[in-house]
Amino acid sequence: MSSTSSAARGALPRYARKLAATTALTALMAFGAAAPAVFAQTSPAAESTASRPWMNTALSASERTALVLKEMTLPEKLTLLFGYFSTDNQWQKTPVKNYVYPEKGLPFSAGFVPGIDRLGIPAQWQTDAGVGVATQTSPTPRQRTALPSGIATAASWNPKNAFAGGAMIGNEAWMSGFNVQLAGGMNLMRDARNGRNFEYGGEDPLLAGVITGNAMKGIQSNNIITTMKHFAFNGQETNRFTIDHKISDQAARQSDLLAFQIAYEIGDPGSIMCAYNRVNGFYACESNYLLNEVLKQDWGYKGYVMSDWGATHSTIPAANQGLDQQSGWAFDRSNYFEGALREAVNNGYVSQARVDDMAGRVLWAMFDNGLFDNVVKGDQADKIDYAAHAKVTQTGAEEGIVLLKNTGVLPLAKTAKSIVVIGAHADVGVLSGGGSSQVYPIGLSPVKDEFGKGFPGPKTWYPSSPMKGIQARTKANVTYLDGKDLNAAAAAAASADIAIVFAEQWTGESIDAPDLNLPDNQDALIAAVAKANPKTVVVLETGGPVVMPWVDNVAAVLEAWYPGTSGGEAIARVLTGEVNPSGHLPATFPASLDQTPRPILEGDVKLDNDSHPHSDYNIDGAAVGYKWFDKRGAKPLFAFGHGLSYTTFQLSGLSAQASGKSLTASFTIKNTGKLAGAEVGQVYISPVGDAGWEAPKRLAGFEKIMLKPGKSGKATITVDPRLLATFDSASKTWNIKAGDYKVILATSATEPLSEVIVHLDAQTLNVKGQ
Ligand code: BGC
Repeated sequence: MSSTSSAARGALPRYARKLAATTALTALMAFGAAAPAVFAQTSPAAESTASRPWMNTALSASERTALVLKEMTLPEKLTLLFGYFSTDNQWQKTPVKNYVYPEKGLPFSAGFVPGIDRLGIPAQWQTDAGVGVATQTSPTPRQRTALPSGIATAASWNPKNAFAGGAMIGNEAWMSGFNVQLAGGMNLMRDARNGRNFEYGGEDPLLAGVITGNAMKGIQSNNIITTMKHFAFNGQETNRFTIDHKISDQAARQSDLLAFQIAYEIGDPGSIMCAYNRVNGFYACESNYLLNEVLKQDWGYKGYVMSDWGATHSTIPAANQGLDQQSGWAFDRSNYFEGALREAVNNGYVSQARVDDMAGRVLWAMFDNGLFDNVVKGDQADKIDYAAHAKVTQTGAEEGIVLLKNTGVLPLAKTAKSIVVIGAHADVGVLSGGGSSQVYPIGLSPVKDEFGKGFPGPKTWYPSSPMKGIQARTKANVTYLDGKDLNAAAAAAASADIAIVFAEQWTGESIDAPDLNLPDNQDALIAAVAKANPKTVVVLETGGPVVMPWVDNVAAVLEAWYPGTSGGEAIARVLTGEVNPSGHLPATFPASLDQTPRPILEGDVKLDNDSHPHSDYNIDGAAVGYKWFDKRGAKPLFAFGHGLSYTTFQLSGLSAQASGKSLTASFTIKNTGKLAGAEVGQVYISPVGDAGWEAPKRLAGFEKIMLKPGKSGKATITVDPRLLATFDSASKTWNIKAGDYKVILATSATEPLSEVIVHLDAQTLNVKGQ
């Protein structure tokens, strides 16, 4: 794996390494140190609204913000604009100068912003991230429920599932004493090797926007602020602190920014985290274009922008170009938003009005999301309903598992006498993705860290065993082999009725996968097993797409992603048919890297002798993922939207009506098989003439319908007009070109079933698509 240099990670050596953690644990035991106390806070709601009129819940968040803001001194306003990393320096391998652990922070968490007791403004306790309540590297991690990875949730194509998962992890965060969750990973998959693809929602602006938007909405149903991130174009981890992504405004608005815009409109996140990278020459956290123009002016965003941990690079440019809160001190080179910001305000380089705007945005998000009215009560994790939450994550995993290939070997035959399970520690657990989003399971990892190099490790498995799940559901004799000895694996496969190879690709923040092959000789393992037994099933636990040189020789392939803390059970239920798979790919699986826009990961090389690495996102522009494949006529290994079932469906009755800015499409799905199951009807639009689109077609809507055998369900989708338009940068309008458009009903980007033609009149919409 190619890794970003640790020096480039900023002043603070990010996370305690394995050694440091061990040393720290010994120190903790030796000195009997207690974990830093969680500070209980008197409920400001108890204060009289006469002395604190902003506590009047009958007023709007904007009115309440204005009332409290006018009581605040400049130092108080600045207090809200400066956040601390919240992991004690003593745990760091190399303690960092100037870093003072915030006493009121929650231990081993991402961040803390002090409150102001005088005015009853609560502190902000920040936790990562998208699959649950994370813990920074620690000898005593919090043990919580983890959802399947973000990409797995996107693979469910089910907004309700995304909301339910968000609501569950938001509850755990609040019960753990947090009121800001750094969740809402929303970067489009522009590179299948991106080490953080597992945290995001795939390659399509509509699907990723709808899924992440609903996940954020779920989180924020808990009196918690959620944080859409990483704004924007944080498309790879290699050189993430310096890389400059070049992209035109039009391509940006029709791709990654559209995904963010849709997610923002649905999820209404109180905060948005600007990214590490540069965009068109400017750091994302001091990009006037991204923060002031697109986000605040064009979209009308009222919440605040926080920096990623170590992504602030200045005081005056950052504040004036739209950054509201510096996060995670001391990851940055300097505490830009502390004394220096005060001086800049006193000297007039940053206006008083701008500081009011910055503090006002933080306060508005806090009022709007209930942080004043339902103050977190500290750690009440003992009251979390883990049994109920295990069901939520299990359902999420089951909805997101994608059956990629099946020649009939699945569901596992009840008559099988012997099944050999091989590899990926499937005897004891399932894999999770690494980095700041790491959630530790109840009971901790059943497997010792195999990465051994600190962040983004430890490589962590969740104690939910697929093998035990299979054993409990079949009469077969189920045995396990670790798969390290290929000959032994092949011999065991030859003498078993069915062989199931579990293959894994561990990915994590800060490192990209070097290529799309499964690591550690697993391709050879699968090939050897498949040669020995034609009834070989492959279960993948990967961060994103991988290539499958053995695919023609195996009987079935199941993509289980990182399936979360009930993932083993979910996989077993799908393999045995207790659950009918219904996931569909949220990203194209390329046949090879050569098919992708940047076969060489840019940023690994310094192009044009530039002083910092850059990558050209104008190569694909808005034609991300399947759009790129369509445009180039390239045949992927598995297409965007693909996913099989154990039953059969008939999709029919497609009709479409256009009127003004609105286009609706209806269709019917019938379960024509013998098992209950869910199918995702996908509607793509393709201009008949040249409408100036980036690619031949776009996903315009989808609906997942659960059906009993013989039953039918009808879906009507309304197409977002931005998905019919192109963006004009000069006038800042979305424009639909008059003409005929194909409305295509499909089960994947390459499996069209029927089409109708509609005529659209020319339309001009404003920058919000209205
Ligand atoms: C990550 C963010 C995360 C933050 C706090 C950064 O390294 O990029 O996603 O929220 O750390 O842990």
